[in-house]
Amino acid sequence: MAQLWGGRFTKQTDDLVYAFNASISFDKKFFEQDVTGSIAHVVMLEKQGILTLEEKDAIVKGLTSIREDVENGKLIITDEYEDIHSFVEANLIDRIGDAGKKLHTGRSRNDQVALDMRLFTRTEVLAIDELLKELLQAILKIQKENLETYMPGFTHLQKAQPITLAHHMGAYFEMFKRDRLRLKDIYHRMNYCPLGAGALAGTTYPLDRNYTASLLGFEGPTLNSIDSVSDRDYIIELLSACATIMMHLSRFSEEIIIWNSNEYQFVELDDAYSTGSSIMPQKKNPDIAELVRGKTGRVYGALMSILTTMKGIPLAYNKDMQEDKELTFDALDTVKGCVALFTGMVSTMKFNNEVMAKSAMNGFTNATDAADYLVNRGVPFRDAHGIIGRLVLYCIEKNCSIEDLSMEELKDICPVFEADIYEAISLKTCVEKRLTIGAPGKAVMEQVIAQNDQYLANDWQVG
Ligand code: ARG
Repeated sequence: MAQLWGGRFTKQTDDLVYAFNASISFDKKFFEQDVTGSIAHVVMLEKQGILTLEEKDAIVKGLTSIREDVENGKLIITDEYEDIHSFVEANLIDRIGDAGKKLHTGRSRNDQVALDMRLFTRTEVLAIDELLKELLQAILKIQKENLETYMPGFTHLQKAQPITLAHHMGAYFEMFKRDRLRLKDIYHRMNYCPLGAGALAGTTYPLDRNYTASLLGFEGPTLNSIDSVSDRDYIIELLSACATIMMHLSRFSEEIIIWNSNEYQFVELDDAYSTGSSIMPQKKNPDIAELVRGKTGRVYGALMSILTTMKGIPLAYNKDMQEDKELTFDALDTVKGCVALFTGMVSTMKFNNEVMAKSAMNGFTNATDAADYLVNRGVPFRDAHGIIGRLVLYCIEKNCSIEDLSMEELKDICPVFEADIYEAISLKTCVEKRLTIGAPGKAVMEQVIAQNDQYLANDWQVG
């Protein structure tokens, strides 16, 4: 047992209590951030005259050697330490002696852990953002290649109106674009340095919190020491953004699973992104999409868990907050893994353009356009709706599409129909006439794609 406290205790901690309390098994994940934060802290302490130059140099050297040894495997982070902070401090004292005991001057593990977690999650925000950007690039590529790939658009999972694959993919582009905007927002809100808040009430040492904040790339120090050590809003916001990303991926997964089914056959997943069955030789299953859909629950769980942990704890730091880590780490790893896999799966899947176009043609997706045709020739919309409804019923009985009917049959139902009806309700016309911003018509889709190209080019860079 290696712990940083013990002076006021007369007994050893019970083994079970020690194990229950310890966090090193998971907070070792932010070893790097702990060292970085400690270096910034001692550099500031020296600038303020709280440490001598020699002490600062010895500590920085010691911390740097610990970092190198952990990186190259010479020093192993083991469970004999209570947490990552104890591991770093104990090893520092082992290496440089008394100067190492000054590392924690003007600092508490409460502001230290708040800093480490912010540094860690801040980097993760950027990593998730980068992965989302790659996914957006993959989606945009599919869009550019499929401006005239017709397919049915659905409502209630019933064929509704014809659209293009580019248009459908564009919906996902907008979703993931919003996800990135959320991350950007969160990044800026979380980018304030809690170090210097101490246990909860600041410290009597003349710390320069602005300086520490700037050394660590923060926009400034946090402004209330109690809030600094008890705030986990940024984790909640980040997990909420992650939950939304997973919700988007899950909807996309669901569609891919449906589209990849024998009944639809809109897409075929690449062999590298499918799995087989141990008993049924014919099977090629969309396991990746199913797993992404399944893992969504796990990320929602992390969000609910942290919200529940935080809801009843009084200010300031309470040990409950140690529970923020494992679930956050797990959720972040899950999201990163899912987004990366998704990009691979989406960019390798093959679209069956003919099947999609055929499906758009045989589901009366041009019924609205047929009604609009009559409206353009003076029939009030409600009457046109009724006429086309009867026409559809007639086609269902005859087992054919509207465009299969002869001019005579059409005129029997409504004399307003002329020969140009066939052109007016062709798949191409139905799509290409939809030219309002955001609609599937090729000309307007090209404008939107150019705008999104621009968005990816003038991208948000943090630095
Ligand atoms: N392991 C703790 C956590 O993750 C670090 C802070 C400990 N502070 C304390 N006063 N016990 O929250």
